[in-house]
Amino acid sequence: MLINPKSVILENSYTKDYEKLYKDSIENPETFWGNIARELLWFKPWNKVLDWQYPYARWFVGGQTNIVYNALDRWLKTDVADKTALIWVSQDGTDEKYTYKQLNEEVCKFANGLKSLGVRKGDKITIYLPRIPEQLIAMLACLKIGAVHSVVYSGFSAEALKNRIEDAQAKVVVCSNAYPYGKKTVESLKNVQQALKDNKTFENVIVVERIKQTLDVGSLKIDKEVGDLKLENQPSSFQPQNPASNFQRQTSKYIWWHELVNKQDTICSTEIMEATDTAFILYTSGTTGKPKGIIHAHGGYQVGIYYTLKTVFDIQPDDIFWSTADAGWITGHSYILYAPLINGITTFVYEGTPDYPDIEIWWKLIEKYKITKFYTAPTAIRALMKFGEEPVKKHNLYSLKILGSVGEPINPEAWLWYFRNVGREQIPIMDTWWQTETGMFMITPVPSVGLKPGSAFKPFFGIEADVVDDKGNKVPLNKQGYLIIKKPWPAMFLDVYNNPERYKETYFEKISNVYFTGDSAKIDEDGYYWIMGRNDDVIKVSGHRLGSAELESAFVSNPKVAEAAVIGKPHEVKGESIKAFVILKHGVVPSEELKKELVLQVRMQIGPIATPDEIEFVEKLPKTRSGKIMRRVLKAQELGQPVGDVSTLED
Ligand code: WT7
Repeated sequence: MLINPKSVILENSYTKDYEKLYKDSIENPETFWGNIARELLWFKPWNKVLDWQYPYARWFVGGQTNIVYNALDRWLKTDVADKTALIWVSQDGTDEKYTYKQLNEEVCKFANGLKSLGVRKGDKITIYLPRIPEQLIAMLACLKIGAVHSVVYSGFSAEALKNRIEDAQAKVVVCSNAYPYGKKTVESLKNVQQALKDNKTFENVIVVERIKQTLDVGSLKIDKEVGDLKLENQPSSFQPQNPASNFQRQTSKYIWWHELVNKQDTICSTEIMEATDTAFILYTSGTTGKPKGIIHAHGGYQVGIYYTLKTVFDIQPDDIFWSTADAGWITGHSYILYAPLINGITTFVYEGTPDYPDIEIWWKLIEKYKITKFYTAPTAIRALMKFGEEPVKKHNLYSLKILGSVGEPINPEAWLWYFRNVGREQIPIMDTWWQTETGMFMITPVPSVGLKPGSAFKPFFGIEADVVDDKGNKVPLNKQGYLIIKKPWPAMFLDVYNNPERYKETYFEKISNVYFTGDSAKIDEDGYYWIMGRNDDVIKVSGHRLGSAELESAFVSNPKVAEAAVIGKPHEVKGESIKAFVILKHGVVPSEELKKELVLQVRMQIGPIATPDEIEFVEKLPKTRSGKIMRRVLKAQELGQPVGDVSTLED
């Protein structure tokens, strides 16, 4: 099935001649990307577009810039200064709008606040904030002064936060006291305090007062004399474990955001960064128990995200772009925050969940705020599909001009529902394939090409991809193989933080001379790519990446558990769900209670996104002779599929 949406705007798009533009772009990628980079501002131009020393690519070498220079500074002396940069809608429906000028002032104030605490270029800052304007302001402020942010999704547990703070050796943590999440209140500061319990190196915690003195949290107060964080109705879990020894460290470490920024100037100069300097670290799950810190740079990253958003979503000056992700994931970094601002448009953020206060909220917001471009995940579409067409049909969604999808393969049924009901069979869906590591869209349609529901179309301009076997040879058409990228791209990650070995092993040594994505795919007779999912031990739950090993170690940390193996199973809404096979220690009696305890344990260790759907107590697990659990065998058995080659199986 080939769908050609009839939208007039898109018929005029310059991307109409995809094949020719693509051919030109890969004939000389350096000229191609160099020309795009010149559309942005640089303090100093580069000497070399690309320095490729396998497996490291360095883009715009010798150039100096700063993402914030292009996201904010460049607009201040133009008409864009008074345009809305950010519309934020809270869970209770009130909104806040920031023009570019106002956003810049907030960013400067917070940047100056960070500086007043001694934060310098290169320092690491962990941002653990919910979907509130301060989350974006903090990110921009870090980059502005050359500090490196590591945003941790607010749904992660204290334990997951702790690991990420420690790996990055963060000097400052920015968080909120608590925040509303549907009908619940999440007490996020408690997680931070727990995460920092044994931390000797952090210097400050900056706390946004998202909720005024709720009873749950107790009323937080900063004692000005000692600058200490005090609780008036102290719930027990808030008390320092050992007040005497903690006193020194507690002193003046906790600061309210509003008190810090109040006294700050609204002007702050933007740090001049080398194009290849680190802008941020973002942790993502891999195949070992430890998440990887993916590093992105200022120069190439901004060029890649600027141009992909502009092209794929056909960006026009009056666009209001809504990506429903959270800035805690790469989608949020690239396409909620940086790319929309670099393109000078309005970005839209809704604090709440897709079903709060009711399941029509997204459609209501699109109608009310006249969203023009809407970017979401298949899991959300599948969840909303369950409520039928009525809730969508009630709303006038005519402001929409392009739709997008990301995070996991979109099944044709969900694609068509999205196209018919949200896209009124007229506007195209951009199914964008990319990763935390790639930073930008890699395989994606561009406006006005023919679409096949469920296919991510073909590689974007300047990107060379293929589907190969384990030797690196192209597989025949319509045969499944490994998705690889053959040449560097500008938003390519710099490295894995503190772990260059892992960078090489995971991405560049499985198949030589190419980037190994970890996904399987097929290419059809028209050259369209069909992404089939991960080929490593990464599970995609509602589009979020979770490593099997990470989940298993959460199970095994329970003293009653001897061993665990975790697999992903197809799930109607979530894409994949988590099933765990658990061997209990000798003498432990299996029970439903114990299952509940284990579910809770995993939630505590990783976060609610990692909640296992099924736990099965077993006596044995299939292993290789060297003792490695063969998850592939478990999965095949579970799904009733052929088990495949088991010659290495021990028993
Ligand atoms: C993995 C990367 C990139 C932003 C969100 C996820 C899967 C992503 C698609 C798509 C099929 C997709 C892949 C990829 N994925 N987009 N359009 N079609 N699969 O970022 O957490 O780094 O995950 O998400 O499996 O490897 P991430």
